[in-house]
Amino acid sequence: MASPKIKLNNGVEIPIVGLGTWQSKPEEVITAVEYALKEAGYRHIDCAWAYDNEKEVGEGIRRSGVPRSEIFLTSKLWCTHHNRVEAALDETLANLGTDYLDLYLVHWPIHLNPNGNHPKFPTRPDGSRDVLTDWKIRDTWAQMEAVLAKGKVRAIGVSNFSERILEQDLLPYAKVVPAVDQVELHLYNPQLKLVEYLKSKGIVPQAYSPLGSTNSPLLQDETASALAQKYGLSTADILLGYLVAKDIVTLTKSVNPKRIKSNIEGALAAAKKLTKEDIEKLDGVAASGKQMRLIQPPWGVDLGFDNWPVRVQGRN
Ligand SMILES: NC(=O)c1ccc[n+]([C@@H]2O[C@H](COP(=O)([O-])OP(=O)(O)OC[C@H]3O[C@@H](n4cnc5c(N)ncnc54)[C@H](OP(=O)(O)O)[C@@H]3O)[C@@H](O)[C@H]2O)c1
Repeated sequence: MASPKIKLNNGVEIPIVGLGTWQSKPEEVITAVEYALKEAGYRHIDCAWAYDNEKEVGEGIRRSGVPRSEIFLTSKLWCTHHNRVEAALDETLANLGTDYLDLYLVHWPIHLNPNGNHPKFPTRPDGSRDVLTDWKIRDTWAQMEAVLAKGKVRAIGVSNFSERILEQDLLPYAKVVPAVDQVELHLYNPQLKLVEYLKSKGIVPQAYSPLGSTNSPLLQDETASALAQKYGLSTADILLGYLVAKDIVTLTKSVNPKRIKSNIEGALAAAKKLTKEDIEKLDGVAASGKQMRLIQPPWGVDLGFDNWPVRVQGRN
């Protein structure tokens, strides 16, 4: 089933449902991507250098036989690479076996020490993450703008950026407004204010972990399950359709062919069936005592999000 598309702020179109690849094992992701493209109608794949499986995603794309021009391909700049965006992008392009990306995102608003004790997660002697707290995110963004100008990517965006970081550290200095902000969005973390803010700035919200990620508590949610029963769909369908119905680009991961197919079909079916009242009910679930963030790396930095109860060591 083909996913409808929405327009980014530079006119590029993005399919509203995409296949996630985080935690997809290299040997599994080849067949997952191949199946998603060839059999399930996906045309949008979300990747990242940090997922350690870009080469296999590229292999899945090639095996699918679907032309590159029909696929919307996203990858992300890792935190240890903020000082060398173009070189990091070139590595990602080589991994994926392509000469351009449709979207390149700054994975986190954090620069980790590129000369630290680990290529991905460097730590200080006390075990805390080796964050370069003096780094200015605007310096990362200027390099993102440069690779966009060179035509190596069709759009640039951010991930895990709060309203505060966008307002204080990025937008006042940006020549190009980010096309998207990819953040944790789901029934238990709907971030209603952030979504409204992003839309007011012309930044498309992208939902990661829409099902609640691995071992999700969301799949047992009573409100979503009741709606699933009402419409003859699965709870997963309702969780995904809830976001799609709000024009949020929804990235869902599976390596299981049945679930890969049912996720895109169910998301689009549920988005059509859910009424305004259903959406209002779902919007209220988190505030009724179920608010929960699932993805909270121990950066030790205040990222400016609501409901981010981590110890703060500094501010970037
Ligand atoms: N920018 C960021 O910092 C960031 C952070 C997290 C995620 N992401 C992106 O967003 C994507 C999606 O998020 P996510 O992977 O955390 O989680 P998710 O898509 O919410 O959930 C994936 C989990 O749910 C299972 N699953 C998939 N479909 C299902 C269904 N219909 N019924 C029951 N279980 C199902 C999957 O297992 P099976 O594979 O066995 O089906 C997997 O364990 C990622 O893959 C990644 O591309 C980005």
